[in-house]
Amino acid sequence: MTTAVAHANIAFIKYWGNLVGALRLPYNSSLSMNLSAATTTTTVKFLRDIPADCLVIDGAERSGPALDRVVSHLDLIRQRAGLTERAVVESANSFPMGTGIASSASAFAALTVAAAAAAGLELGERALSALARRGSGSAARSIPGGFVEWHAAPTDEGSYAESIAAADHWDLRDIVAVVSRAHKATGSTDGHAAAVASPFFAARMTALQTELPRVRQALLDRDMATLGPAIEAEALALHAIAMTGRPPVLYWAPETIGLLHQVHAWRADGLAVWFTLDAGPNVHLICEGGAAADVEAALAPLDCVESILHNRPAGPASLVRD
Ligand code: DP6
Repeated sequence: MTTAVAHANIAFIKYWGNLVGALRLPYNSSLSMNLSAATTTTTVKFLRDIPADCLVIDGAERSGPALDRVVSHLDLIRQRAGLTERAVVESANSFPMGTGIASSASAFAALTVAAAAAAGLELGERALSALARRGSGSAARSIPGGFVEWHAAPTDEGSYAESIAAADHWDLRDIVAVVSRAHKATGSTDGHAAAVASPFFAARMTALQTELPRVRQALLDRDMATLGPAIEAEALALHAIAMTGRPPVLYWAPETIGLLHQVHAWRADGLAVWFTLDAGPNVHLICEGGAAADVEAALAPLDCVESILHNRPAGPASLVRD
């Protein structure tokens, strides 16, 4: 029996579109920060006497697509380890699934670390990251700690993530304003497939050739004045592509747009806060530690905000030793 814990991550330069969907080889490299308050803890047991894999998430046994995806990932690990036993996988999240907080990232990072160890595979961080990527692309970035870059590459082993700075490099915060807990209608996997038909897809790829190094440098320099505008533009570019893909996908709720205007108004009043969004309706408010209390105070009176999740930069995925 092996247990692992992994943090979700928020991307500043995002993964949106696959070159090879079956291997989750992305078109572009991406940059992210691990999130302290958004974790998945997963226990894996390979057992000789059970007929099929069993998946329990937050206390409820799952079947259908959620189970199928975990079985495929376990198959990959079994194949590498030369193992035939089926597994019991028990997983618990510290945050609501399917709401734009990247539950698949922490889920597949924790599953990869726990299942690889339970299967007796001894893999380094790069190999674990590339393996986690096969379960969910953004999970590759939840294996290393702190601030992370995931490299786009044409091969399975070549596309892994690594840390560019440790969690204590910069006291950056991601205060997630949860406006909806409803499970999103279009999952990221379908979103990636729809994106590449957008007429704006190629333009974003070209722009990222200069944007990604600029955002990487802003993270390394702790340069909020460069990072803030760049991450807002990147989030809007992703959603512009989602809205113009085939089929088009609109992830925003009315409350999402209200909050985006609100962030601009707060900034006009001197509050140093910027937004980013994932494939969902919730708004991630990015600021430095010194502004965090003011951002929380500004959010407090808003009826549209169901709850908040206050994140600091977090460390790598790890095994939990008992
Ligand atoms: C918008 O990693 O969830 O959050 O590989 O199909 O599991 P799959 O997709 P996923 O996509 C994340 C998309 C995003 C941007 C990002 O995190 O980079």
